[in-house]
Amino acid sequence: MKKIIVNGGLSLRGKVVPQGSKNAALPILFATLLTDGVSVLRRVPEIGDVEVAIRILKSFGASVIRDGECLIVDTRSLKYTKPDSALTSKIRASSYLIGASLGRFGLVEIAPIGGCDFDKRPIDMHLAAAAALGVERFGDTLTAKKLVGGEITFDKVSVGATINALLMASVAEGKTVIKGGAREPHVLSLAEFLISAGADIAYDGDKVFVTGRPLRGGNYTVIPDMIEAGTYLSLAPLTDGEITVEGNVAVYLDAFLNLFKAGGASVTADSAQTTFRGNLTAEINVKTEPYPGYPTDLQPQLCPLMARFFGGSIEETVWRGRFGYLEALSRFGVGYTRYESFAKIHPSELKGASVHSPDLRGGAACLMAALAAKGKSEIYMPEVIMRGYERLEEKLSSLGADVKIVD
Ligand code: EPZ
Repeated sequence: MKKIIVNGGLSLRGKVVPQGSKNAALPILFATLLTDGVSVLRRVPEIGDVEVAIRILKSFGASVIRDGECLIVDTRSLKYTKPDSALTSKIRASSYLIGASLGRFGLVEIAPIGGCDFDKRPIDMHLAAAAALGVERFGDTLTAKKLVGGEITFDKVSVGATINALLMASVAEGKTVIKGGAREPHVLSLAEFLISAGADIAYDGDKVFVTGRPLRGGNYTVIPDMIEAGTYLSLAPLTDGEITVEGNVAVYLDAFLNLFKAGGASVTADSAQTTFRGNLTAEINVKTEPYPGYPTDLQPQLCPLMARFFGGSIEETVWRGRFGYLEALSRFGVGYTRYESFAKIHPSELKGASVHSPDLRGGAACLMAALAAKGKSEIYMPEVIMRGYERLEEKLSSLGADVKIVD
């Protein structure tokens, strides 16, 4: 079994070049299935979830080749294949096959959908969006002789259901209007890719207007990963260090930057780079919300900081059960009290520990605690963290961390 060995307690300093956004690259990869052509994608992160997505694309007959900075996806001769549950059950993004396969083949057999297991993860909103565009359901099979534009209204915000709505609407006959859709940067990034492939998508207030068209190959550079950026930036106050993330990540991270400023960290940000330095000087309290609110995917990473400094609280409104990782963090000394979708983190002395990665971001939080705690820690199953973080050992080492991944 693989593990990361960490000798913690060192100050981390330096610059990080952010990877491409995991949660943008995944829907874009599935969107290539809608196109009859060759797509050229840049800044697609080399992470576990992307590797699984590529294997799913190949199972439909796509050719996917990495050529230097580019990922070249040829989807000219595809054939419908029943999705392989051994692959779909590894990633949540396999749910995008609903839109992509229906859009391309008029058919999809829903296979088990994977991803972090921190809450119920229903797909009722994805199915409602499909039904609004003329899709019929027979058990786990969805079919449409042709997708027909219509009105899709979401009563709550779902990233995945909005992505499936955009995928289907982009190739449906006629006009679709999507109301109440997610506005996360990765959802807008998918729309930009689809437009590069010939889609007709226009945003107007809280509505999105889409007119279906045949799509050709697209040409697109994936936006930087705001969650990876936020994770590395958090390491600066946590380790008394100074960390700069290059590029314009601040544009996506308003709520995160404001929280750290309120906590007393020194934050400088412009369109070229973002730097965190200095300790926290006050308690931090956060409520996660859909974009532009504080992102749930940067919630677990706050706990080691709260523990090391003045404590704090988390109200989780997106995934009400997203606290399973706290048990693993407690081994590092993090003290907490949990009340359903709310957790209070107590000021605590961090210590080295051996744990299994509880889930992707919870695993990242354990790694952060290990980096801050003096002494040795071991985190088993780093693959869970590397589902979302590219070249983890190399990037942390370049900041001065003593980390090694061994088998
Ligand atoms: C995406 O998941 C992300 N995953 C998650 O990131 C992220 O936490 C989440 O959006 C929220 O931002 C990917 O992009 C691959 P949702 P998704 O549909 O699309 C409820 C990470 O760490 N809901 O926006 O699955 C649902 O239960 C991962 O990178 C329904 O009720 O999330 C939840 O409470 C973890 N019915 C809320 O909506 C539905 O049909 C938001 O879920 C769909 C969702």
